[in-house]
Amino acid sequence: MRSWFPFFLLALTTIARVSNAEYTGTECNPINKTCSADPALGTEHTWLFNSTIDSELWDMKTGTLDYTSEGAEFTIQTENASTLLVSNFYIFFGVMEAHIKMAKGAGIISSVILQSDDLDEIDWEWVGYNTSGVQSNFFGKGNTTTSDRGGYHAVANADTEFHNYTTYWDKDRLEWWIDGDLMRTVKYSEPLAVYGKNYPQTPCQVKVSNWPVGVKGQSQGNLDWGGGLVDWSDVPFTMTVSKIRVQDFSTGKEYKYTGHTGTYESIEVVSGNSTAQTQLDKEPAKTLSQKWDDLGSGAHIGVYCGAAVVGALLIGAFVFYCLKQRRSGRLQRALNDGAYSAELTTLEESKLRWRQSELRSKGSYQAVP
Ligand SMILES: *[C@@H]1O[C@H](CO)[C@@H](O)[C@H](O)[C@H]1NC(C)=O
Ligand SMILES: *[C@@H]1O[C@H](CO)[C@@H](O)[C@H](O)[C@H]1NC(C)=O
Ligand SMILES: *[C@@H]1O[C@H](CO)[C@@H](O)[C@H](O)[C@H]1NC(C)=O
Ligand SMILES: *[C@@H]1O[C@H](CO)[C@@H](O)[C@H](O)[C@H]1NC(C)=O
Ligand SMILES: *[C@@H]1O[C@H](CO)[C@@H](O)[C@H](O)[C@H]1NC(C)=O
Ligand SMILES: *[C@@H]1O[C@H](CO)[C@@H](O)[C@H](O)[C@H]1NC(C)=O
Ligand SMILES: *[C@@H]1O[C@H](CO)[C@@H](O)[C@H](O)[C@H]1NC(C)=O
Repeated sequence: MRSWFPFFLLALTTIARVSNAEYTGTECNPINKTCSADPALGTEHTWLFNSTIDSELWDMKTGTLDYTSEGAEFTIQTENASTLLVSNFYIFFGVMEAHIKMAKGAGIISSVILQSDDLDEIDWEWVGYNTSGVQSNFFGKGNTTTSDRGGYHAVANADTEFHNYTTYWDKDRLEWWIDGDLMRTVKYSEPLAVYGKNYPQTPCQVKVSNWPVGVKGQSQGNLDWGGGLVDWSDVPFTMTVSKIRVQDFSTGKEYKYTGHTGTYESIEVVSGNSTAQTQLDKEPAKTLSQKWDDLGSGAHIGVYCGAAVVGALLIGAFVFYCLKQRRSGRLQRALNDGAYSAELTTLEESKLRWRQSELRSKGSYQAVP
């Protein structure tokens, strides 16, 4: 045990330094600060990931999505690349149902989690070397003192078949379901949740990520967890999401932390229609042919004549637009690249810290001299 304690500390401080240095300041932990309210989902919705998802409601922080008829692919294309999708909305207790195929490959982690601003967290995690299992976990306020909370569940062909991974979360209990079977329950009042103190209970965002833990410089413990170094000659590594259903058990406009306790009693549900609800209620845009039919025949003739003139103008405008897009595309990529590390560390830091503490408590790992 003692022999590798310094190793743990070293790894921890390394991670802490990285995350502090790259901290963007856009995030705010309500335990120590006064933060703006969290926008609520306030309703239930299923997002199909076989066509572009609404960027008002979801933010692709890192990487890009490739859409296919079966879902959105989160792909690691190049060495050290990563992907992260975060909902712009929060749920204050509820259900998260994700249908996914994990990414296969040593050192690659697929994850779908609920995470709050004060680092309450409910996880599904797939380690890429094991395509017949998934891990469940939870955290309260990012507390990694002990690491006895992980669950291990068998699931067949997790990389080639979609399965239904559902988290049910209310103020009394947490449940993890796979394909309609209840795999695990944790109660607010049980010792594992420190009688509520370590129980996730603040408004959470949905975060979906495919990322590499098996990179050089990573601690041996984390490498072991992920199944060793990533073999970069095996790219691409792809996780596919076909759909995600999210149900918010609260209804309202937003969620506000009153005080700094981080208990569910301290969360104020601000009433009103949520931005997400308003966005979802928007009528789907009419198709072009519907609009055409709405016009009279006189209008049709006018449109034909006008079209010749407009066509000429459009070509000019289009060329201008393309030039501009090329520039903003490059800028966007540069911005994304810059955001990479900062966004990544908030999600991954807790995992990495947890792995360290797991190893510390088990004492099974011997530091490499
Ligand atoms: C809050 O601040 C205290 C000291 O000011 C610090 O020890 C603690 O780690 C901070 N907690 C979080 C979650 O930032
Ligand atoms: C997406 O999947 C749904 C349900 O399977 C289907 O109705 C819809 O046509 C699909 N959309 C695309 C663009 O493939
Ligand atoms: C994969 O995970 C399942 C569930 O935890 C476990 O039963 C199985 O032994 C694991 N396989 C490997 C190769 O680690
Ligand atoms: C962190 O969790 C441990 C047990 O897992 C518990 O004993 C301790 O009180 C917790 N710390 C805080 C600050 O909640
Ligand atoms: C997924 O599993 C959850 C929990 O069992 C269930 O409520 C839901 O209906 C399932 N979804 C589908 C599409 O079968
Ligand atoms: C990937 O990350 C590792 C560890 O930080 C580093 O040693 C390596 O040079 C990186 N590779 C590339 C291509 O950036
Ligand atoms: C909320 O939306 C409903 C219709 O969906 C509308 O009648 C109501 O006025 C809205 N409330 C607020 C506070 O905007």
